[in-house]
Amino acid sequence: MSKTQGSSHDGATAAVMSAANEAVTTATLPTTAAPSVRAVSVSFVLNGREVTWEGDPSAKLLDVLRDDLRLTGVKCGCREGECGACSILLDGVLVNSCMVAAGRVGGTEVTTIEGYCTTERFKVLDATFARRSAVQCGYCIPGMVLAAEALLSANPHPTEEEVRTGISGNLCRCTGYNAIVDAILDASKEGEGLW
Ligand code: FES
Ligand code: FES
Repeated sequence: MSKTQGSSHDGATAAVMSAANEAVTTATLPTTAAPSVRAVSVSFVLNGREVTWEGDPSAKLLDVLRDDLRLTGVKCGCREGECGACSILLDGVLVNSCMVAAGRVGGTEVTTIEGYCTTERFKVLDATFARRSAVQCGYCIPGMVLAAEALLSANPHPTEEEVRTGISGNLCRCTGYNAIVDAILDASKEGEGLW
């Protein structure tokens, strides 16, 4: 885990929204399965909309979201459940989408940063991340924001220690974490009543 210190700039909105603007606009997008693989049809709610995807059920949900459904706010880091860049909410629970088989999401609700950034809760986190200069390269930020959402929805008034534990599955190579922790603590105060 890298925890180097560095200079910051307030790019939370730009980092998250640029990814969000690439979101899919059609509800059903079949993908190509390898010829030897039997494709299945999987229906689930994605960012509030019913979608049906067809393809290899063992495909990583990360790849389905990014490559087939064009939700590139879901970032690809390690592809083995270690970095949290690919974090999403699956029925409200923070999960690494690289560790979820696409065939398992039928009937669930999937939320990515593209869906979450339309919420009032996001606005609070966006403002506090920007004010605290908690974004540098921005690559970890979609996952980090969803980790903050999962934490605050379970514990609206976390201690600093609880925030650090809550984001412990999300690696950031740039910020040193302190600004991110401060931003989440600020959001827990400024978002009173939202969580
Ligand atoms: S890409 Fe999924 S945890 Fe790193
Ligand atoms: S801001 Fe660069 S990885 Fe976190």
